[in-house]
Amino acid sequence: MTVTPETATSPAADPASVTATARRLLTELPGPRSRELEAERRRHVTNAFGITMPVFIEHAQGSLLVDVDGNHLIDFASGIAVTSVGAANPKVAKRAAAQLERFTHTCFMVTEYASFVDVCRWLNEHTPGDFEKRTALFTTGSEAVENAIKVARAATRRPNILVFDEAYHGRTQLTMAMTAKENPYRLNFGPLPGSVFRGPTAPAHTSPDGPGEALGRIEALLAQNGPETFAAMVIEPIQGEGGFIVQAPGFLTGLREIATRHGIVLVIDEIQTGLGRTGKLFASEHEGIAGDITLTAKALGAGLPLSAATGRAELMNAVHPGGLGGTYAGNPVACEAALAVFELLEEGALLDNAGRIETAVRGRLEPLMALDGVADVRGRGAMMAIEFRDSSGPRGDLAAAAAKAANAHGVLTLTCGTNGNVIRLLPPLVIEADVLDEGLAVLEASIRSVLS
Ligand SMILES: Cc1ncc(COP(=O)(O)O)c(C=O)c1O
Repeated sequence: MTVTPETATSPAADPASVTATARRLLTELPGPRSRELEAERRRHVTNAFGITMPVFIEHAQGSLLVDVDGNHLIDFASGIAVTSVGAANPKVAKRAAAQLERFTHTCFMVTEYASFVDVCRWLNEHTPGDFEKRTALFTTGSEAVENAIKVARAATRRPNILVFDEAYHGRTQLTMAMTAKENPYRLNFGPLPGSVFRGPTAPAHTSPDGPGEALGRIEALLAQNGPETFAAMVIEPIQGEGGFIVQAPGFLTGLREIATRHGIVLVIDEIQTGLGRTGKLFASEHEGIAGDITLTAKALGAGLPLSAATGRAELMNAVHPGGLGGTYAGNPVACEAALAVFELLEEGALLDNAGRIETAVRGRLEPLMALDGVADVRGRGAMMAIEFRDSSGPRGDLAAAAAKAANAHGVLTLTCGTNGNVIRLLPPLVIEADVLDEGLAVLEASIRSVLS
């Protein structure tokens, strides 16, 4: 198929009045109104935010984003794995709007509200682990990670943290130190907090012999520094920003065993993978493991800022009263959004959809592995990626060019990976089959055009 942009002469009169059901390009991307707004952005907003696609969104429907020029873009990003239920889900909007009318904030540390407790109860009941749990709510993913470390340190009275190659845990001072990639996340921002050690992983696609060697090196690292000095080890069950890395079978169970043996708190960072993204409620379920603390954010609030640390009751209660909190932690509007997300997840179709998305992505992209430059198609459910690499090494240039071509044709894709050589697909779980197919066809054509 060709990917010539469909251009028309007249922009939509009122983008908000248009029902978006399919990709539609009325202008080149970015269109004239987006370019005007982009000029304003450059005048008023710091340059330090990297922008994937300088297009301004007017409204959204399911898996389609409608820009200010009336273009309909297929969303393969979900705001980085956030809008799993769609970017304007009516159930989320209804619950959040009703809460906005009642009250917007009390600060849960000042006076309480039931939705906070309801979100905690649901997470206690649904996160992996057959043990008594307690949950703490926060605002961002990084904040959930930071607080898990506070809990682990308070509970164990140990200082050190073990994280892993290719990890991404956030942009705050401590989570930046836990994140592996230097540029752009850590560059010029040091000195970084100490007591953070980094161990190897066993990516399934580069570890034909399994996880034994990596687990042995982790044991050696712990032995060298004293396992009794480690409060926590923190791992993403599928590494997101690092390149959608699925670990070799046995790696995560091996980590679980090492953590238990040394009394180290295993923190599973499900901030990107959790709440249905991989076809199960939690990606750790694919491995049959439970963290001592499981972290959620992103899809939890469907775009309203909400994050959670859910863990063994004795750990979560080891912190002194007043030791955790935050002005906006567990905001009531975000809690209502989360309760709508839970209802949608319980209906069951979203998890099935994730499996359907994986089948469609594999069907379309796996044949491309025959092309020189495409090394791997991997992932689980609606968290799929295609890696570009050839005999010269990782090809970030190919990934960037293919993603740019897809974006220019109205299919919003992101790249990731330490070398930027991976295109990642994170469509909303509600994406319709025909929209998904069209988006994949555009992506395939974009990749073929770059490789030809
Ligand atoms: C696995 C993981 N952990 C932590 C974070 C940080 O979350 P936030 O950006 O909400 O602080 C992210 C964000 O992408 C993530 O993917």
